[in-house]
Amino acid sequence: MSNERIKTVVEDLVQVLQDFMHKHEISHDEYRVATDVIIDSIKAGEESLFFDVFFEAEATDISNKARKGSPEAIEGPFYCVGAPLLSLPYVMPQRINERGDVLYFRGRISDTDGKPLPAVELDLWHADADGLYSNIHPDIPDWNLRGRFQTDADGYYEVKTILPPPYEIPKNGPTGKVLSALGRHFFRPAHLHVKIRHPKYSEMTSQLYFEGGEYLDNDVANAVRDGLIARLVYRNSSADLVTRELSLPFYELCYDFKLTPL
Ligand code: DHB
Ligand code: FE
Repeated sequence: MSNERIKTVVEDLVQVLQDFMHKHEISHDEYRVATDVIIDSIKAGEESLFFDVFFEAEATDISNKARKGSPEAIEGPFYCVGAPLLSLPYVMPQRINERGDVLYFRGRISDTDGKPLPAVELDLWHADADGLYSNIHPDIPDWNLRGRFQTDADGYYEVKTILPPPYEIPKNGPTGKVLSALGRHFFRPAHLHVKIRHPKYSEMTSQLYFEGGEYLDNDVANAVRDGLIARLVYRNSSADLVTRELSLPFYELCYDFKLTPL
């Protein structure tokens, strides 16, 4: 970010906030409450959670306006760099007897003209059956349900994992206190997080939601967008096993991504 850009946006931000303080006649005590909320969320390690809940979706909407490829969605506070590189057949790292229904997440990745793209990296992370993330919440092995894998020669990808439930963000910390004061609940709809990388295309960060799921229209982070809701199919008959020997039943979520050139 150039100094010129910083000057433009910070001066405007300060002006907007000063006008806001006059509009609401913010008292000195109220000003301190506001700064304490920010300081407390940093002390609780919730600064990313706090800002992401209220503001990150606006930034992705702004970048989506100019995108030709698939829409992006918020990264959220729980991404970790360096997830394990998986080998074929792709199965997300998980505990023995990881709870949750089996989910195959699959689809195809192409460019905006529809040309399939081999060797695209997908970096997937999602919550476990209790709605908790590894590397963040204690008592879960590091990198559980976090992994990187690639599309094949025809641009297809498929990974086996478990179906995550709707997720309740931490509600006992400073972010939760603000949401409680607003009378809001703490839930996000069930979702998969993904980053997609290829040297010739712009890296994208998105989330996929499950059609018909709870909280799709009242996500605490307000991050659900139409193009990101995919159909979850329940497979429980041998007629569903056209070419593959998989153990029934399982869920399947198909989503085709389009990447935007650099
Ligand atoms: C937020 C986003 C997520 O995807 C998540 O899993 C938890 C919290 C957020 O916006 O704060
Ligand atoms: Fe999440």
